[in-house]
Amino acid sequence: TTAAIRKSLEQLVGQEPSDKKFELELRDFYSQIVRYINEKSKKQELVWEQVNSPKPETVLSYKNLSSPKSSDISEMLNKLVVLKLNGGLGTTMGCVGPKSAIEVRNGQTFLDLTVKQIEYLNSTYNVNVPLILMNSFNTDEDTAKIVKKYYNHNLTIYTFNQSRWPRINADSLLPIATTPEPVSGKWYPPGHGDLYKSLYNSGLIDKLTKLGKEYIFVSNIDNLGATVDHTLLKHMVDSGAEFVMEVTDKTKSDIKGGTIIDYNGTTRLLEIAQVPKLFIDDFKRVKKFKIFNTNNLWLKIDSIKTLVEEDKLDLELIINKKTTDSGERVIQLETAVGAAMKYFKGAHGVNVPRSRFLPVKSTSDLFLVTSDLYILQNGMLTMNPARTFNTAPVVKLGDHFKKVKDFQARFKSPPQILELDHLSVTGDVNFGANVTLTGTVIIVANHGAHIDIPRGAVLNDKVVSGDLRL
Ligand code: UTP
Repeated sequence: TTAAIRKSLEQLVGQEPSDKKFELELRDFYSQIVRYINEKSKKQELVWEQVNSPKPETVLSYKNLSSPKSSDISEMLNKLVVLKLNGGLGTTMGCVGPKSAIEVRNGQTFLDLTVKQIEYLNSTYNVNVPLILMNSFNTDEDTAKIVKKYYNHNLTIYTFNQSRWPRINADSLLPIATTPEPVSGKWYPPGHGDLYKSLYNSGLIDKLTKLGKEYIFVSNIDNLGATVDHTLLKHMVDSGAEFVMEVTDKTKSDIKGGTIIDYNGTTRLLEIAQVPKLFIDDFKRVKKFKIFNTNNLWLKIDSIKTLVEEDKLDLELIINKKTTDSGERVIQLETAVGAAMKYFKGAHGVNVPRSRFLPVKSTSDLFLVTSDLYILQNGMLTMNPARTFNTAPVVKLGDHFKKVKDFQARFKSPPQILELDHLSVTGDVNFGANVTLTGTVIIVANHGAHIDIPRGAVLNDKVVSGDLRL
């Protein structure tokens, strides 16, 4: 098999002889697929008996960290770079183009909010924190167009592209792409674990080091809670750790998130994809693994350089099985950025407040972040202090709301939800302007029925069903 794979990869490279980056990526892909085949034949799985809760000293509490003196902040910030993972598309929410281009609040996109945050930081502290975007072949072109509008702003933006790997047929393991043309059904960005090598290959590490930058704060572009935190930056500087992962307390809805474990004395990340089937329920248990990875990471730039140069970063492969539009079963080999934890010296977790994890994965999340539950200041969202409870309500919007376009069309204006605990909406439902929802509200329009919630309506602990048209 490996000889046939090698041959087809050579053919692909042969069609783009002057593209050295492409060649490097496919070479890397080849070594990963060989590894996948070897591991599969050896049935290498994690030995569950050796998986232990992390040692207490490897997950510190944010509450116990000290914040910096205000006179030290500027000097620290000048050593920092912010990197957003921007390789993903907005497909899950029915959008074409990069996820970062979705409007999340007051017509501003994820990217707009990020830029605002960093500009604010730069002007408040008179520093120069650059923003780096890790794009993929899927997002690069559109991102370049968007980024142009920040040309005269108070921040430097660097971009680089992560790799592009071919999807492989699930049985033959041969690439389904026959040409290097970057069509997304045949090629894919291989997960955010690609960051290390792609960042290194972009030449940015040397450039940043020359500018005196020492630390990178990495996060998902859709995590609106991932703002630059002075206390965490100070902790990074003081502790000398090469890698800090922000984790937060698990609730019942986070059971799938990766967690920090102790494995034979090494601190590492455990993702659900690595857990043997028999132990999945064990993994999901909130009691045993109390925290999960927010994917907010603080890294030392020179350590990334060393680890890549020494070729140390052997990240666990995540096998993502898919079926193409034409019905072909394919496999994507991927890696996750947090999986590198075990290779960095002094790597540990810091248990941060939930507010640092505010991802927008669905329009139900979008519903929350567009509402009065949050206040927007300088690109940062914080929970409205007028809310009695410090937790967000549980919101489930049905399939009629799945696409951002439909979601926007079905709400005349964002409802007021300061005292909402639970909302569930199923079927063809429209909301008029200035609706208030409090307590538990359930709205069900059965198949063929339609419900209009009139403008100004106040629904308090209510179940609405049937057919109600204005
Ligand atoms: P997703 O939103 O696709 O992943 O990407 P997820 O399943 O919720 O979360 P993870 O993967 O478990 O963390 C998370 C972030 O990673 C970027 C996306 O753009 C998003 O910001 N990403 C994902 C990349 O930059 N490259 C990739 O290949 C995959």
